[in-house]
Amino acid sequence: MDKQLLENTAKALVAPNKGILAADESTGTIGKRFDSIGVESTADSRIGYRQTFFTAEGASDNVSGVILYDETLRQSVADGRPVPKALTDAGMLPGIKVDTGAKPLAGAPGETVTEGLDGLLARCEEYFALGARFAKWRGVYKIFDGGPSHACIQANAHALARYASIAQAAGLVPIVEPEVLMEGDHTIETFEKVSQWAWSTVFEQLYTMGVHLEGILLKPNMILSGSTCPTQAPVEEVATATLRCLRRTVPAAVPGVVFLSGGQSDVLATEHLNAMNQRGPQPWELSYSYGRALQAPALKAWAGEEANAPAAQAAFLHRARCNGAARTGSYSAEMEATSAAM
Ligand code: 13P
Repeated sequence: MDKQLLENTAKALVAPNKGILAADESTGTIGKRFDSIGVESTADSRIGYRQTFFTAEGASDNVSGVILYDETLRQSVADGRPVPKALTDAGMLPGIKVDTGAKPLAGAPGETVTEGLDGLLARCEEYFALGARFAKWRGVYKIFDGGPSHACIQANAHALARYASIAQAAGLVPIVEPEVLMEGDHTIETFEKVSQWAWSTVFEQLYTMGVHLEGILLKPNMILSGSTCPTQAPVEEVATATLRCLRRTVPAAVPGVVFLSGGQSDVLATEHLNAMNQRGPQPWELSYSYGRALQAPALKAWAGEEANAPAAQAAFLHRARCNGAARTGSYSAEMEATSAAM
C-alpha cells in the first residue's frame, strides 16, 4: 500500500473550496434522470450530457474530482480526448464507482447488501492504469418498522471495509459511503440513532481490515428528518445532529467527510453544509460529493440539446460556486442570487 499516495490524493480531494461531483449514475439510474426530461438514454447521449461538466471552464475552482461510471471512464469527450485525460487536463481527479449495486440481502426481506467484491483487485488495478485515483462503494440502509436489521448493518459494513482495503492496495482512495436513506417518515432522532449504529460499525470493520484511515474519505448522509416526516428539522438542527453523530463515530485521522445529497433540494444541501462549516474547525474537512444537488439544474437546462450546453454549464458552475463557499461557511442567500446571475 502506497500510504503517501493515498494521503496526497485524499487531501487533494478535500482541498480548500473544493468538493466532488458524483456523476457515476448506473445506466439504469441515468436512464431515470433522462426520462424526467424526456431524453433517450444512449451511450452517446450519456457522454454528451456528462461532458458538459467535464469541460466546463473553471469547474476545477470548486470541483476537485469526478466520480465516473465504468462506461464513462472508457469514453472520450467531443475533441477525442479520453475522459480521464480531459479531467486531468482540467485539474480534476478521475474517480470510479466500483460496486456492482445493492442486491437483495438473503434473510433480511426488503433490505440489500452491496455487491462487487469478486475480482475487485484486478478491476481496481485496471482503473488505476486508466487514470482513476479514487473509488466509491455505496452501502444502503433503509429505515422502516423493525429495520435496518443487524444483518444489513453488519453485511454492508463488512463489504465496505473489504472494498476499502482492496482499493487502497491498488492505489485508489476509497470513498466509503454508508447511506442511510432519507425516504420514510422517521424523525431526525431515529435517523441519528440508525446512522450512529451504521457508521460506528463501518469504522469497526475498517479497523478489522487494516484500512489506512488517513487515506480514505467518508461519504455519509446528513442527519435529517425523514422525507415524509410531518415535522422537518430546521437547518441548524440538522447541522447539530450531523456533527454530533460524526464526532461520536468518525476518527480524527480521517481527512475528510464528503456528504451525499440523497434527494435534498440543491439549495438545502448547500445550506446544511454551510451551517456545519460555520460551526468552526472540525477534526475533518467537511465537503460535498453531490450527485443530484450539483446536477439537477444543469440537467434541466441541458434538456438533451447540445446547443444548451453553455446554459447547463452555467447552472452547474453556479451550484459548484455556492457549495465551494459553503466549505468555509461563507455561502448566503445573496450569493445564491448574485452567483446565479453570473
Ligand atoms: P446524490 O448526491 O444524488 O445522493 O448522489 C451521490 C451519490 O454518489 C450517491 O451514491
